Amino acid sequence: MDKIVIEGGFPLRGDIRISGAKNSAIKLMAVCLLTDQQITLTNMPRLRDTRSMGQLLTHLGVEVGEVGASTMTLHAPKLSSSEAPYDLVRKMRATFNVLGPLLAREEEARVSLPGGCAIGARPVDLHLKALEAMGAKIELEQGYVVASAKGGLRGAEISFPFVSVGATEHALLSAVLAKGETVLMNAAREPEIIDLANCLNAMGAKITGAGRSEVRIEGVAKLGGVEHSVVPDRIEAGTYALAAATAGGSVRLTHVRHDHLGALWPLIAQAGARVSLDDSTVLIERGTGRPNPVDIDTQAYPGFPTDLQAQFMALVGLADGVSIIRENIFENRFMHCPELTRMGADITVRGREAIVRGVPEYVAAPVMATDLRASASLINAGLAARGETHISRVYHLDRGFEHIEVKLGQCGARIKRVPDD
Ligand code: EPZ
Repeated sequence: MDKIVIEGGFPLRGDIRISGAKNSAIKLMAVCLLTDQQITLTNMPRLRDTRSMGQLLTHLGVEVGEVGASTMTLHAPKLSSSEAPYDLVRKMRATFNVLGPLLAREEEARVSLPGGCAIGARPVDLHLKALEAMGAKIELEQGYVVASAKGGLRGAEISFPFVSVGATEHALLSAVLAKGETVLMNAAREPEIIDLANCLNAMGAKITGAGRSEVRIEGVAKLGGVEHSVVPDRIEAGTYALAAATAGGSVRLTHVRHDHLGALWPLIAQAGARVSLDDSTVLIERGTGRPNPVDIDTQAYPGFPTDLQAQFMALVGLADGVSIIRENIFENRFMHCPELTRMGADITVRGREAIVRGVPEYVAAPVMATDLRASASLINAGLAARGETHISRVYHLDRGFEHIEVKLGQCGARIKRVPDD
C-alpha cells in the first residue's frame, strides 16, 4: 500500500484543472442499465470509485470501454445478471443505486445492502421506501435486498422526511421508466442531481424541477443513448481552494463551476484569503499571516457541504482565534480531528460540534487517512506543516481525487507517493 509524503511549509503557485465530479460520474454510469443504446460519458474522472462501479456494471453484463484519458462508453444491449453481490457493493456505497434501474429493466433484482461506513450508519431506508411506493416488493434476505416489480414500477408521490442525495438520485433513476407520474418532495438539490436529470432528459426522460425541492418525473416507455459531459467536481475544487488558503500562495482553478460553491467562497474570504471568480476559473490568494477564525455549519446543498468540512477545519486550525464547526449531515464525521491533533491542532469534539482553537503552526507527524475527505484535510494540513508529514492508507484518497499528488506537485508542493512498508 502507498503513502503520501509531504515536505510542508511551501506556498502553492500555479493552475489546477478540476476533473469531472466523482459523485456525479458514479451515478451517471448507472443510467446505462436503463437503455439498450450506448452511453458515452466525457470529462470522466479516473478514480477507484469509477473503477468499482465499472466492475459491478461489467458483472451485470454491461460492456464498459475507456477511450482516451477521460471518456467512458457503456453499452448494455442485454443484461446477464440482476444480482449485485456483496463483494462488489461493499467497496462503494453508491453501487447500491443499481437496484432501481435493475428493477425498472428486469423487473427483479438482488442487491447486497451496502452496510455501514466509517462516517456514520448510513442506512438505505429512504431508498427502499421510495421503491416500495413505486410498487416494488422488497424483502431482506441474508444481507441482500431481494426486490421484484412484476409489470414494472409505477409512478408515485414520494415525500422524503429529510434530504438525501442518494435516495433522490435512486428515485430519479427508478422513476424515469415507471408508468405514470412520480413526484419527489423534499428532494435533494445538489448540482449532481441536476447533472443526472440533464443526462436522463437527453436520453428521452421527462424530468422537471431537478435542483428544486419538488421534482416531477413523467415516466416514458423507452430511453435512448446519449453523450454527456460530467459536471466539474465542486468538492475537488473546494479542496484545492482550501489547500491554497491553508498553505498560502496563489492557485488558479480551471474548468470549475464556481456557482456550485456559493457557500464556500464568502467563508474562505472571511478566513482571510482573496477569492476572484471568473467564468470557469477561480483564483485563491493568501499571503503570510494567520487566517481568521470562521464558524461553519454543514447543510444539504446549497448550504456548506459536509464533504468540505474536514478541509475547512485544517484551514481554521491555524486561525488566530476559535472556530466552531458543526456537522449536521453525518453523525461520525470528525475522525480527522485526532489526526490533526497529532500535527499540533487544538480541537475538542462535543457531539456534533468541534471547537477548534487555532494554533500558530502545524508540525509534521505520521498520520492515517480515515476516509476520503478526511485524507484531503491531512494533505492540506501537511502542505502547511513544518517538516515531513507521512499520510498512510491513501487508498481512501484514490477513491475520489484524480492525480492529487501530480496536481499539487504542479503548484510547487513537495509531495510524493511512496510504497508504505
Ligand atoms: C452523498 O452520500 C455523497 N456520496 C457523500 O459524499 C456526501 O457526503 C453526501 O451525499 C451528502 O452530501 C455520493 O454521492 C456517492 P445522503 P449519500 O443520502 O447519498 C441519512 C464523499 O466523500 N440517510 O444525502 O449517502 C444518512 O445516513 C461522500 O464523496 C438515511 O438515514 O448521502 C445521512 O446522515 C461521503 N437513510 C443523511 O441521510 C437513507 O435511506 C444524508 O445522506 C439515506 C440517507
